[in-house]
Amino acid sequence: MNRGFFITFEGGEGAGKSTQIARLATLLRGRGLDVLVTREPGGSPGAEAVRHVLLSGAAEPFGPKMEAILFAAARSDHVEQLIRPAVSEGKIVLCDRFLDSSRVYQGVTGDIDPAFMAELEAVAINGMMPDLTLILDLDPAEGLRRATARRGAGAADRFEKETLAIHQRRRDAFLAIADAEPKRCAVIDAAAAPQEVEKAVAAAVVTALDRTRQLAPDGTRS
Ligand code: TYD
Repeated sequence: MNRGFFITFEGGEGAGKSTQIARLATLLRGRGLDVLVTREPGGSPGAEAVRHVLLSGAAEPFGPKMEAILFAAARSDHVEQLIRPAVSEGKIVLCDRFLDSSRVYQGVTGDIDPAFMAELEAVAINGMMPDLTLILDLDPAEGLRRATARRGAGAADRFEKETLAIHQRRRDAFLAIADAEPKRCAVIDAAAAPQEVEKAVAAAVVTALDRTRQLAPDGTRS
């Protein structure tokens, strides 16, 4: 059986990742592909248990290193329980946030030693590097505005509530990753209308899948 394909979506708050993942899943399923949608922190029962600790802010008083280790623990469980088995079965896995969120949120804006972060990442992913990472890029002021509108009366989570300056550093850090790893990463302009973003996402994915011959060459891609 063919190995599947592992795609991660990254970016700041309110960039529209979940909307775009849902649209891409519909598109790919329409072409007969077996798609699994998941997210971080979470995606497996063990990781979902850790998600609440992280997003409620319960771990915040213990510092960014504690949070980084918890994100890594959740990721390891998610990889071994869900992602790796699905990719081995030939599925296309679409994951809302993955290792780049840790590099950016904990590593860069948590000021954690890069060597420590690299070791933690290696343990967490255990070789399961994404085949493609789409970075949805948006001015953080607009992203936070969208996230607030989406949330309605609910409270901002542990990370959303941080200052605009911190979210700006995160945007720069995601773009720096894309610059450093152009083979794995594609930057998508998330300020465009949702249909335009959808087209750009689809184009990047079809190109990457074609490269690995996931799509049949007989017109199943239009
Ligand atoms: P979530 O509610 O899933 O929403 P969204 O992805 O739409 O922002 O929030 C996840 C939060 O956790 C988000 O603020 C980013 C943060 N995060 C990290 O700090 N490090 C990580 O490794 C991951 C996966 C997420």
